[in-house]
Amino acid sequence: MTIECRNLTKSFGRTRAVDGISFAADGHVVIIGPSGSGKTTLLRLIAGLEVPDAGSISFDGTPVSEPGWALHPQKRRISCVFQSPALWPHMTVSENIRFGMGDVPAGQARARMDDLMERAGIASLADRYPEARRASIVRALAHPARFILLDEPLQNLNEELKEEMFGLVLGCAEKNGTHLVYITHDMAEAEQIPGMVLSMNRGKLSGPDGGTGRM
Ligand SMILES: Nc1ncnc2c1ncn2[C@@H]1O[C@H](COP(=O)(O)OP(=O)(O)OP(=O)(O)O)[C@@H](O)[C@H]1O
Ligand SMILES: [Mg+2]
Repeated sequence: MTIECRNLTKSFGRTRAVDGISFAADGHVVIIGPSGSGKTTLLRLIAGLEVPDAGSISFDGTPVSEPGWALHPQKRRISCVFQSPALWPHMTVSENIRFGMGDVPAGQARARMDDLMERAGIASLADRYPEARRASIVRALAHPARFILLDEPLQNLNEELKEEMFGLVLGCAEKNGTHLVYITHDMAEAEQIPGMVLSMNRGKLSGPDGGTGRM
């Protein structure tokens, strides 16, 4: 299962979010780089959620994106874990709800929360950590995909959960022979994923070998 990007370019207004990126990978790909360097845009291009302005993407030698055309994400045999979860994963369900209530006085907030959680049938989950992040990872792993695209999937999980979920992701990929395209800010995580490392800066690949060295 190979991914090949050739001269891939995508602008938003005057911002060249992805600027002439080329690489070919037959294995896991780790994408690192500072905030705003184009990592998510590159992943969304690979997912077919964005259409390139220039350049192309092919999977296993078959074109999936060209200027003005992108094969529908559901037809790509990929699965995704997106960057933004709807809830804070490091707060319990009730802490998340409380956080959203801002300045409401404590007693009043508690009563309102308890009542609403009861009515929504989630009272028993109040002191548990939200499952949205983990559920989205499981959803991606369960899919019979050829590539799993993950955009900082472990961000904000506590250390214990991070380790557990990271092991699950790598273990599943290995067992099923699925390749990962994995965005992370965490060098320790990046170093544990065997494969190609793309180091992005201002929409371009940077570093030795144009950022496509192996770690
Ligand atoms: N839909 C959009 N409309 C306008 N500008 C966008 C859009 N998406 C991304 N950009 C811009 O493109 C550039 C790259 O953004 P991108 O989200 O790909 O970076 P990133 O490397 O994922 O950053 P982070 O580490 O913060 O997630 C940024 O300048 C961003 O503001
Ligand atoms: Mg991003």
